[in-house]
Formats: sequence, C-alpha cells, structure tokens
Amino acid sequence: MFSIVQRGQHVLNHAVTLIGILSVFIALSSYALLQQGGAFNLPSTISGVSPQATVRMSRRFGSVGSKEKENNKLTFDLQADLTPLFNWNTKQIFVYLTAEYPGKSEGSSNKVTYWDKIITSKDNANLTLQNEKSKYSVWDVEDTFRNREATVKLEWDIQPYVGILISGETTGEVDVVFPTPPTGEEARAEKMKKRQQKQH
Ligand SMILES: *[C@@H]1O[C@H](CO)[C@@H](O)[C@H](O)[C@H]1NC(C)=O
Repeated sequence: MFSIVQRGQHVLNHAVTLIGILSVFIALSSYALLQQGGAFNLPSTISGVSPQATVRMSRRFGSVGSKEKENNKLTFDLQADLTPLFNWNTKQIFVYLTAEYPGKSEGSSNKVTYWDKIITSKDNANLTLQNEKSKYSVWDVEDTFRNREATVKLEWDIQPYVGILISGETTGEVDVVFPTPPTGEEARAEKMKKRQQKQH
C-alpha cells in the first residue's frame, strides 16, 4: 500500500515539523540573548526637548472642515547606544520617539510619534543626535493638546529573521508640557516675519 507519494509526504511532514521546532528554538534563543545583553533596559538620554505649537487648517494636518487644529512639533537631542539589539537573528530595528499624555477620560492615555528611523546595521546603532527635528507634525484627537504634560521616550521594535516582532523601550525619558499655540494675531505676525526673512 505504500506508494512513493505517501512516503514522500511522510518525509515532508517530518521536515515541516523539524523546521517548526527549529524556528521556535531560534526565536527563543535569540530572545534570551537579547535579555542577556540588557536589551530591555537600555539607557537613553533625551534632552533639549523643545516643543513648538502651531495652528493648522489643512486636512493634511488633522483639521476637519477647516476648523483650527493644534499641531505640535519638537526638536531634541538624543544619545542611545542600541547596539545590544543586534544579534544574528536581527534583520533590522525600528526606533521611534513618542510622547504619551493623559487622554480625555480618566485613566486613558494618548500617544503620538514625532520621529522614527530604521537601522539595518549594528554599525549605525549608536545614535547621537543633536538638535534633531521631528519628522512628523502631530495632533490630538481633540482640537488642542490643552497644555497637558507628556512623557517623551525612545521605543524600538526588532524585526527578526525568524520569529515575531519584539518591542521594547529605552529607560531614559523626559517630561515636557505642550506649549500654547500662538493666537491668530501672533501667527500672522510670525508668518510676516518669515516672509520678510525669505525676501532678504
Ligand atoms: C556611542 O557614542 C557615544 C557618544 O559619541 C560614545 O561615548 C560611546 O562610547 C559610543 N559607544 C560605543 C559602543 O561605541
């Protein structure tokens, strides 16, 4: 009753099972390696955080029906050595600077991402940034950030060759208060000044 096909299937089943076991083993051992290297307690220094608020009317910046929408950007300094996130099972890492702040309802919190970077090599994993500008202009679900206090920190994801995405955050964090955006009058004056500077 044993045909070639049946035997082939049997071998294949074994192979699939073996690959499955091997993948789990690789994922677990590289996770252990990360833990050993202190990946989940990496220090970072975030400093010189300077948030700037503006008011936008465009849909591209979260405004609906041309209603004024408060946007927020920031500049920051950062020092973080993310080298320990790299081992033989690390394909690349994704790092991002976030701000977390209290939401509208009790106990809830909101989070925004100002900046991110993909790092594909251990050689580029020691980050030193100075006066770095946020990549994104962010807005809240509400019209304004209401001067709430936010915690800024650096988080990361590891994309492994084998296994699932691993996430964590560095231990350094800093508190900032969202500034009040300039009023209509101030914003106009600011625009005028910029226009004049451009002409010179
Ligand atoms: C990472 O960069 C900082 C600042 O330039 C330096 O002090 C530190 O020694 C570097 N770490 C490694 C592992 O190269």
